[in-house]
Amino acid sequence: MSTLENITDIRLKEGLLALGVTNKPTCFRPHTYMLFHPNGYATACCYACKYPYGKYPEQSLHDIWFGKARQDIIKAMDNEYDFHLTCDQVCYEQVCIKDQGCMPAIMRTEGFPYPAPAYPTRLELIIDTVCNYECIMCGGYLSSSIRRNREHSIPHKIPYDDEFVNQLEEFIPHVGIVYMSGGEPLVAPYFLKVLERIAKINSEAFVELTSNCSTYNKRTQKILDLLPNLTVTVSLNAISKDNYKFITTHGDIDNVLGNLKKLGSRLNKMNVCPMIQNVNEIPNLVKFCDENNVIINFLYCFMPTGGKLKGIHIGGTNEYAEGIRLPDNVLAQKPFIPEFNLATLSKSKLQKIHDNLIKITEWCSPQNQHPVKHLCHRISALADK
Ligand SMILES: C[S@@+](CC[C@H](N)C(=O)[O-])C[C@H]1O[C@@H](n2cnc3c(N)ncnc32)[C@H](O)[C@@H]1O
Ligand code: SF4
Ligand code: SF4
Repeated sequence: MSTLENITDIRLKEGLLALGVTNKPTCFRPHTYMLFHPNGYATACCYACKYPYGKYPEQSLHDIWFGKARQDIIKAMDNEYDFHLTCDQVCYEQVCIKDQGCMPAIMRTEGFPYPAPAYPTRLELIIDTVCNYECIMCGGYLSSSIRRNREHSIPHKIPYDDEFVNQLEEFIPHVGIVYMSGGEPLVAPYFLKVLERIAKINSEAFVELTSNCSTYNKRTQKILDLLPNLTVTVSLNAISKDNYKFITTHGDIDNVLGNLKKLGSRLNKMNVCPMIQNVNEIPNLVKFCDENNVIINFLYCFMPTGGKLKGIHIGGTNEYAEGIRLPDNVLAQKPFIPEFNLATLSKSKLQKIHDNLIKITEWCSPQNQHPVKHLCHRISALADK
C-alpha cells in the first residue's frame, strides 16, 4: 500500500497535497456513488467511464454494485493513488494542476459518511435520452433530437425497463440523494416511472432533477406533488431571447422564465456551460440567480458530445468528435478540454473575459461568490497556458 510520501509522480503528489486530498479515500465517488448511463453502463461518475462497475441488463444492479470492478477502482485509488484505471481522463489532470473545483477536492467538503455504508448513498440516473432541445454543446448521446436532426442516426436503444425499476427497490431506501438528468427528465417518459417508484418507497427522498425547464404541465405538477423534497437544477446558458434560441435551437426564454417562476422554491440551482457563445451573458445569469436565491454552477464544458455544427465546432460540420460516438459495447473515452471553445481564444481575449467576470464578485451574493471566483480561476489558468 502506497503512502503519499512514496508516490513517484511528483505532479500528482503535489496536487494531492495542495488540495488536501491526503487521507483515504482518494475519492469518495467509488465508495458512495452509482451512475447509470443511457447505454446501461454504471460508473462512479460521468468521467470514470474507462472501467465501469458493470452493465445493465447483462448484470443485475446488485451484482453491479457489489461486484469486482468497483472494488478494483477503490483498491487502485485508495491503496496506490493510482488514477489510471478509470480516473485519468479528467481528475488526474485536474489534481495535477491543483484545480480546487475537481471532484476529489470538492467531495471532501460534502460530508460523505466514511467508512462508507454497504449501499450507495447517491444514485445518478441518466436513463432516457428523449429531449426536445438541440443545444450546441450537447450531442446525440444525450439528446434524441440531436441524434435525429444533427447526426441523422437511428435512435439509441435504451436498455432500461420495468425490471430495472424493480431492482432499484433494493437501493432506494439507502439512498440520500437521487440525481436525474437526461435527456429531458420533464419530457422523457421513462423518468416518471422511476420517480413514481421512488415516491412509493420513500416519498421523502431528496431528488435533484436537472432540466431545461421548457415544459411545465400536469405531468410536471404530478412529479412535484409526488416528491415534496424534489428540487430542480435548471440548465440555462443564455437569458437574452435570440441567444437562448440560438444555443438551444428550439427554446423560448420567455416560456422558460415563466416556468421557473412556477417552480418557485423548488428551483434550487442553475447549471451554466461557459462557452464563447454565452460568456457575455454570465453577469445577467448570476444576477438572475441572486434575485431568485438560486446557486449558480459552472460546468466544465467539454467535447461537443456529438455531431459538430458548422461555424461553432472547429474542424468540420456534422462529424463526430473523435472518440465521442459511443460504440455499443464500450464507453466513451472523452478528450477533456477544460473550457470547450473558450480554450481556443487568445490570451488577451481570455484576460479580458477574466477581468469582466471578476467584477461580478464585487456585487454577487455570498453563495455565488465561490463559483464565480472559481470560474475566473479557470479562465486565468487557460490564459496562462
Ligand atoms: C445533458 S443535460 C440533460 C438534462 C437536461 N436536458 C438539461 O439540459 O438540463 C445535463 C447537463 O449537461 C450539460 N451539458 C450539455 N452539454 C455539455 C457539454 N458539452 N459539456 C458539459 N456539460 C454539458 C447541460 O448544460 C446540463 O446542465
Ligand atoms: S477521481 Fe474523478 S473520475 Fe475518479 S471516481 Fe472520483 S470523480 Fe470520478
Ligand atoms: S443539454 Fe439538455 S436540453 Fe440541451 S440538448 Fe442536451 S439534453 Fe437536451
